[in-house]
Amino acid sequence: MGARASWSGQLAFVLAASASAIGLGNLWRFPYLAARYGGGVFIAVYLSLSLTLGFVLLVTEIAIGRYARQSQLTAFGVLGHPKWNFLGVLATLVPLFILPYYNVIGGWVFRYFAAYAGAAFAGIAPTADPKAFFGAFVGAPWAPFAAMCAFTAAVVAVIVLGVKNGIERANLVLVPALLAIAVALSVYVATLPGAGEGIRYYLVPDFSSCDNIGKVMLGAMGQMFYSLSLAMGIMITYGSYMLRRDSVPKAAVRIVAADTFVAILSGFMIIPVVVVFASAGASEGVRAVIDAGPGLMFETLPKVFLSLGTAGPWFGLVFFTIVLFAALTSGISMMEAIVAAVCDFFKTSRARSVAVVSVWSVAVGALSAFGYGRWSSLRFFGLPPLDFFDTSMNILTPIVAALICVFAGWILSPKRILAECQRSGERVGFRLFYVVMVRFVAPLLIIAIVVSEVCRCLKLGGWSI
Ligand code: TRP
Repeated sequence: MGARASWSGQLAFVLAASASAIGLGNLWRFPYLAARYGGGVFIAVYLSLSLTLGFVLLVTEIAIGRYARQSQLTAFGVLGHPKWNFLGVLATLVPLFILPYYNVIGGWVFRYFAAYAGAAFAGIAPTADPKAFFGAFVGAPWAPFAAMCAFTAAVVAVIVLGVKNGIERANLVLVPALLAIAVALSVYVATLPGAGEGIRYYLVPDFSSCDNIGKVMLGAMGQMFYSLSLAMGIMITYGSYMLRRDSVPKAAVRIVAADTFVAILSGFMIIPVVVVFASAGASEGVRAVIDAGPGLMFETLPKVFLSLGTAGPWFGLVFFTIVLFAALTSGISMMEAIVAAVCDFFKTSRARSVAVVSVWSVAVGALSAFGYGRWSSLRFFGLPPLDFFDTSMNILTPIVAALICVFAGWILSPKRILAECQRSGERVGFRLFYVVMVRFVAPLLIIAIVVSEVCRCLKLGGWSI
């Protein structure tokens, strides 16, 4: 095996990490959480959390990766703490089980993209009944599986080309394209009649809808983890390809900024059209419409697009192009974390590792892909496979994040992380802040998420989303 792959520079790294972070979480989860938790209130809480806690966790993961020059699976042991190899295993399990169903959802996005592409050019809406369309699609015997395979194939095609030739190049096209299209779409939305009211709904804090600040904070924290791709090994693996001369804290700030920018932007794309739609006729009110949770993207938004008349299919096409690009770059990063772990652990070639991970992903993904259709009787603890994987990973992720903090703060020592940050020759001005956060604040806050997720699962009235 040759030398470890690396990014060609700071920009490539920031682009790759941002591309991983910007995904379905930004485009679909953030807007509905903002609508649920009082608009501006949620945005303010989210911003403060990501600039403090999010920043600290990102720095920690990136620095561990660069220090160890290994993916998450082997990094903790290589740093002189073989007992902590179990954390590497846990941190690898997360992407290992998320990737298969992320590819299933990627397949749904691909299906919608294709449907809107066809519809836009034909000048008609893809369906008059979006709810039935979605139900028929996920319940179809083969379609969800075929769509998943198409999406997985696109991800594999990039991964197989390697870090510089594959991931870097794909990001160089996909991320700027995504940003440009998203900005253009938000500007278009702002010109629609009635958009002002929607923007107000999104930005003006509504304290009455967030009776409980604890709830808002937990929602924002969970979202932040998901959105920044934390605790899934990605940032450790991507950090391991980072050049020593590049600055870890600067990169972390830029990643948080890019990710948050797209999250806020997607609110501008989605919320005003939903508000116009909701106030035009639906009796449920704006909150009920946007608070559709997972259904927002595949059922509610297509309904909203339908109400836009002839512009609707084009709007849908542009929107699902953004979503497709975002899902692709996130899927790529998730697969890379597993491929790198397999390479590092088995000391095998990249090609072989990609082959094994692809087979895994398609085989396990099949459970989720068929789970609403031909295998709809398959239930894990009463849940369809996709929901089961999602729920269990929602619990495992914060546990891994808390353990990473304990490792960095108490076992490895924050000094080593800060020393890694200073390798680029810069002064690090946030030493005390970092130590307090990583040792005390972060683990405690994260444990709160775990407790609330578990309560929610056990139906004890947990707080989280
Ligand atoms: N951050 C991605 C999003 O916002 C989702 C995600 C979470 C992710 N963890 C990840 C993507 C790990 C890739 C790798 O949708």
